Amino acid sequence: MYRWGRSYSNADRIDMMTNQNNYIGVVGSGTMGNGIAHVFAQSDYKVFLVDLDEAILNGAIEVISNNMKRQVKKELITQTEMDKALNNISISTDMNCLKDSLLVIEAASENKEVKKSIFKNLDSICESSTILASNTSSISITEIASATNRADKVIGMHFMNPVPIMKLIEVIKGKHTSSKTLEVILSISKQLNKIALECNDSPGFISNRILMPLINEAAYCLMDKIADKESIDGIMKLGMGHPMGPLILADLIGIDVCVSIMKVLEEGLNSEKYAPCPLLMDMVRSNKLGKKTNEGFYRY
Ligand code: NAI
Repeated sequence: MYRWGRSYSNADRIDMMTNQNNYIGVVGSGTMGNGIAHVFAQSDYKVFLVDLDEAILNGAIEVISNNMKRQVKKELITQTEMDKALNNISISTDMNCLKDSLLVIEAASENKEVKKSIFKNLDSICESSTILASNTSSISITEIASATNRADKVIGMHFMNPVPIMKLIEVIKGKHTSSKTLEVILSISKQLNKIALECNDSPGFISNRILMPLINEAAYCLMDKIADKESIDGIMKLGMGHPMGPLILADLIGIDVCVSIMKVLEEGLNSEKYAPCPLLMDMVRSNKLGKKTNEGFYRY
C-alpha cells in the first residue's frame, strides 16, 4: 500500500494511490453513502461502509443490492459483476476498520458538528497517508479540515444523487488542500467513470449556490399562488429544458436538506436573499420532507 512519506515519482504515486485493490472507507450509509459504496465496489475497490448501527447498515446493503439488481435487469451489468461488487463491500459500526484506507469519504448527516467530530476521529484512527473527503452539500471544507491535523489531505468530493447514475463529482479544494491530494482525487474520479469538476471552497460551492436559490424561488412562486406546482415544474421543465422541475427535485433531495443548505448560504454569504422560503420551513415543521417521508410538494 502507498505510504505518503516515502519518495515516489508522481506517476508511481498516482498509480499506487489509485490501485484498485486498495481500501476505501465510507462513513454514513444513507442515500448518498450507499450510492458511493455502490460505485466504488463496482470499480473493484474494497469498501468498508460504516454507520451508527447494524440495522441501518443492513438496510443500506439491501438498497445497494436492489439497485444493482435493477442494473442487471437493464443489462448494464451481469449477475457475476453484481455478485463480485457486493462481495467487495463490508459493513461495520466501528470506525477503527478504516485505519488502512487509501481514502475515506464521509457522507453522514449535513451537520457541521457531526462532520467535525467524525473528521477528528478519522484523523486519529487513519494512517497519516489517508485522504479524508467529505460529501457535504454546503459546509466549508476548510472548516471541516480544521478538526484534523492533515488539512492538506482533506477535500470535498460532492457526489450527486443518485450516485450510480449521475456523472458529476464536484471536487472542492479547501484552503489548505494540497495539489497532490487533488491530483489523486481527480484520478480516482476518472476510475469511477465520473467527471470531476473543481471549485474553491465557498458556501454551497457551485452546485448548491445556484440550485438552492432556484428551488427557494420556486417555493415562493407556489406560496404566493402565482401558479400550481405542476405548472411551476412544467414551465421549468419544458421551457428551460430542465430534466425535472424544481419542486419535484426538492422532494427528491429532501426539504430539510434544502432548508439547511439555504441557511448555510444565508449565514456564509451574509445576505438575507438566501433566507429559506417560509413555505419550506413550514414543510419541515410538518415533517413533509419529500420522497423520504412519502410527502413533500407531491405525495408518493
Ligand atoms: P441520510 O440522512 O440519508 O444519511 C446519513 C447517514 O449518516 C445516516 O444513515 C446516519 O445514521 C449516518 N450518520 C450520522 N452520524 C453518523 C456518525 N457519527 N457516524 C456514522 N454514520 C453517521 O443523508 P444523505 O442524504 O445521504 O446525505 C449525506 C451527506 O451527503 C450530507 O452531507 C448531504 O448534504 C450530502 N448530499 C446529499 C445529497 C442528497 O440528494 N440527499 C446530494 C449530495 C450530497
